[in-house]
Amino acid sequence: MTQIYEPKIGIEKAIDVIKNDGIVVFPTETVYGLGANAFSETAVAKIFKAKGRPQDNPLIVHISELGAVSKIAKNVPKAFFMLAEKFMPGALTIVLEKSDNIPDIVTAGGNTVAVRMPNHKIALELIKNSCPLAAPSANKSKHISPTTAEHVYEDLVGELDVIIDGGDCSVGIESTVLDLTTDVPTILRPGAVTAQMIADTIGEVLQNGKVIKVAKSPGMKYQHYAPKCDAVQANSALSAIAEYDRCAESKNPVILGLDDFCAEVGQRNTLSLGANAQEYMASVYNALHTAERNFDYIIIQKLYGDGIEDSIMNRVSKATGGREV
Ligand code: TXA
Ligand code: MG
Repeated sequence: MTQIYEPKIGIEKAIDVIKNDGIVVFPTETVYGLGANAFSETAVAKIFKAKGRPQDNPLIVHISELGAVSKIAKNVPKAFFMLAEKFMPGALTIVLEKSDNIPDIVTAGGNTVAVRMPNHKIALELIKNSCPLAAPSANKSKHISPTTAEHVYEDLVGELDVIIDGGDCSVGIESTVLDLTTDVPTILRPGAVTAQMIADTIGEVLQNGKVIKVAKSPGMKYQHYAPKCDAVQANSALSAIAEYDRCAESKNPVILGLDDFCAEVGQRNTLSLGANAQEYMASVYNALHTAERNFDYIIIQKLYGDGIEDSIMNRVSKATGGREV
């Protein structure tokens, strides 16, 4: 007889049912799930029968700890662990290469398997004390997904014995399904974990045929690191000299550069940025502070190179607004 149980008794009963290849309903943060031992073909067949679900629609395998993944999937890419660190437990399902331990009925004969760790105490406790659970949403095929135990009861009464009541589901729509077996990771079903959140974690993701990339660091669009007076970057000591002399009548300029650069500009105001790029990096902000306090026009040496020189020039070009002489 189908009954709704409060969590404590429900979990105990459900563990028993699962061990005997039966099916149970448990709450998750997204929607309620109809679960069975993911390693048992007999048990999983009962899910398809109770839901009236077509055999060609694969199921999600629910886990309670990351260690279980090695029994369910193989060749698990690094991206999985990067995403797991941020979104597991949570509303993100990830499609991986299937391990031979998982019966074909779970994956509808395909060679990939979907894995999710629900962010729900009851679900996690149930799985931890039984086994990974293959589980679709606990509704009749094609009907609306259930977010309360009562929704489940209306749809599936007579099809199973144990429904664990966890109250309302906090997220309320099914998990995001992300395929990591494709060249570019691809969202198969959108959910609470968005394409942008995924792209920000692993670099890029495909959704509706569109590639979404990692968001630029938000600070990049603002002008940062700017001194209070005008500043310009100089390609060479010669161009620094020309710029200095051009504006020296109306302004009080200063040249910031490495020691050899400063030596080349003769008897003009200078502030040293040290002997090499490393020292330039360590002293540039301090030099800009000093310069804006004591002068009103900054001419700063441009560095060339794609190591730290590039990082330094990223900041310097913010200070100069990219202006070059
Ligand atoms: O939030 C959820 O994901 C809920 C709770 C219970 O975890 N489960 C859920 O399961 O929505 P279901 O079966 O209703 O939807 C799973 C979706 C289906 O669209 C299915 O086709 C897809 O995930 N799916 C499962 N395994 C797959 C695989 N190996 N490759 C591609 N898609 C897969
Ligand atoms: Mg469903």
